[in-house]
Order: sequence, then structure tokens, then C-alpha cells
Amino acid sequence: MARGSLLPILVAVLLARAAATAAMDKKLLPAATVALSFEEGYTQLFGDSNLMLHGDGKRVHISLDERTGAGFASQGAYLHGLFSASIKLPSAYAAGVVVAFYMSNGDVYERTHDELDFEFLGNVRGREWRVQTNVYGNGSTAAGREERYGLWFDPTEDFHRYAILWSHDRIIFYVDEKPIREVVRTTSMGAQFPSKPMSLYATIWDGSSWATSGGRFKVNYKYAPYVAEFTDLVLHGCAAGPKTGSPAQAPCDPGSAAMMSPGQRSAMERFRARYMTYGYCYDRVRYPAPLPECSVGAEAAAFLPSGDARSSDRRSRHGKRRRRHDGGADSAL
Ligand SMILES: *[C@@H]1O[C@H](CO)[C@@H](O)[C@H](O)[C@H]1NC(C)=O
Repeated sequence: MARGSLLPILVAVLLARAAATAAMDKKLLPAATVALSFEEGYTQLFGDSNLMLHGDGKRVHISLDERTGAGFASQGAYLHGLFSASIKLPSAYAAGVVVAFYMSNGDVYERTHDELDFEFLGNVRGREWRVQTNVYGNGSTAAGREERYGLWFDPTEDFHRYAILWSHDRIIFYVDEKPIREVVRTTSMGAQFPSKPMSLYATIWDGSSWATSGGRFKVNYKYAPYVAEFTDLVLHGCAAGPKTGSPAQAPCDPGSAAMMSPGQRSAMERFRARYMTYGYCYDRVRYPAPLPECSVGAEAAAFLPSGDARSSDRRSRHGKRRRRHDGGADSAL
């Protein structure tokens, strides 16, 4: 066959592959159509009247005042899946306030628990909320895997979607459909890659002792109540015993669909280059040798030995100065 005649075939193959990739991108983070009402899928953990339902139980407000914070959890536990919520954070001065959206099985496995966290750390006025992600597996609380980021929007102004995709071999954190962190299961991580069913949690609490500049700024109850709003709660997971809360749902394990397309990967890399303010892989004070899953490359030059970003440009829009490392493991949610 003449070489030239292969070209149309090659083009067709490339087009088909591009279409498949585009389809996969959509599948990767399905629209929040399987949102459950609060009664269908969740249960209140604490905070009595500081948890309020609105809009037919589809919107949940949890608040922190001088009496208490508040929190809720999924009725069921899930092994793998996609978990997300649209969240609007408390506005105004919010130093010391922590809003957490996370998966954990700490209630079942006291010493060998797994955990995947989004933590929102309130800040002093004029400086934005920061987002922290973290991963624990099999009780690895001595090895925090924190990363912190600024955001490209004000998370107190509107709802934004925060998602955790957890498959057998990778974990991806998303903000508004944009992947911000990927954790790939490696043999060196071993059981520190979460592998047991977890429930989904959302809490608001007083993190005065560490949340803002290592505890320098406490919660100021003059501005209470601090209200965090949750909606479009999505449990798209493989229900696992003992409690199998939510109704049966379509394909639960993201499996190979959890592969990022090249476009998504470069979006993630752009985000991290611009907005990541702390990375445990770069923290030579805490980890003189990087944890085994860290592949530290040329980008390490952008970070100080404390793990904090070197450049004062890395932050959310209104930041003024580089943030101090807040330090310390903070597993106990
Ligand atoms: C999880 O941790 C426990 C307690 O440290 C240990 O005995 C067990 O072997 C670990 N599990 C795995 C799969 O490594």
C-alpha cells in the first residue's frame, strides 16, 4: 500500500481518539444529577439547631457560634466513587473557622482509619480562605500529606463544586470540574492509600488552635454565626456495609474512567503552578527525605524548605502577603 493512502486512516483514528477523550472528560466528572435530599442520604452528627435544612432538604446550612459547630455524615459507607458538594463558605472575618468536606472511616477503624479531606481554612479579613487537601490511609496520621492552595474565585460569594474521585488506583480532587490534585496508588504508599469503605462528612468547627497562621488568629464570635451552605450533595459510590444508606445508583467505581485526559492534566498543572501555596512533598523541615510517592522535580525550586511557595504571587486574588506555614498534623476531624 502506498504510504500516502494511510493518511486518511490516521486522521480518522486521531479524530476518533479525540472524540473518545472528550466523551471520557464528560464521564469523568458527571453532572450533579444524582443529588440526594438530606433525609435520603445523610444524618446529623452534632450541632442541634446549628444544622438547618432549606429548599425541600436539598440545601443544608451548618453553622458555628459560641455554643457549637455542626456536622452531618452520609448514612452509608462507600468503597470508591465520586463524592461532591456545592459549597458556599461563610463571608466576613473568619479566622480560625474550619469547614471540612471529607471522607473517613474513623468511626469504624480507630487506629487504622482512612481519610480524604477538603478543608477550608478561614482567614483574617482581606486575605482569602485557603483550601487544604489531605490523604490518610491505614492510620497514617504521623505522615500528613497536606497541600494548600489559593482559589481563582471568592468562595464566599457563590456556590462552587468540590469533588473527590476515589478509585482503586487513584484519587483526584476537583474544584469546579478542574482537577487540582492527583494521588496515584504506588507500592511504596502501601496501605497508606485509602482502601476501606468510608462515609462522607461535612462539618464546621472552631479550629482556633491551628487553622489560621498556626493559631495566631482565633475565632472571633463577634461575627458569629458562621454559616456554610451545602447543596447538590452527590454520593456516586459503591455502597458498602454495614449501612447501605442511599438508593442503588448507577456505575459506582470510576475505575479506568478516572484517567485524566492530557487537557485535564495540563489544566491541573497550570492550577498547581499558579495557586499551590504549600506542598508536603517540598517540606524538607518536616520530611528531610520526601515521602516515597513524591516525585520532586524542577518545580521544587518554587518552594522554600518549609514547603511554602517561594513566590508571593501564588495565592488567591486578594492576597497581600505570603502565608505562614500553619504547621502540624491535623488529622483529628
Ligand atoms: C495497617 O496498620 C496496622 C496497624 O499498624 C497493621 O497491623 C496492618 O498490617 C496495616 N495494614 C496493611 C494492609 O498494611
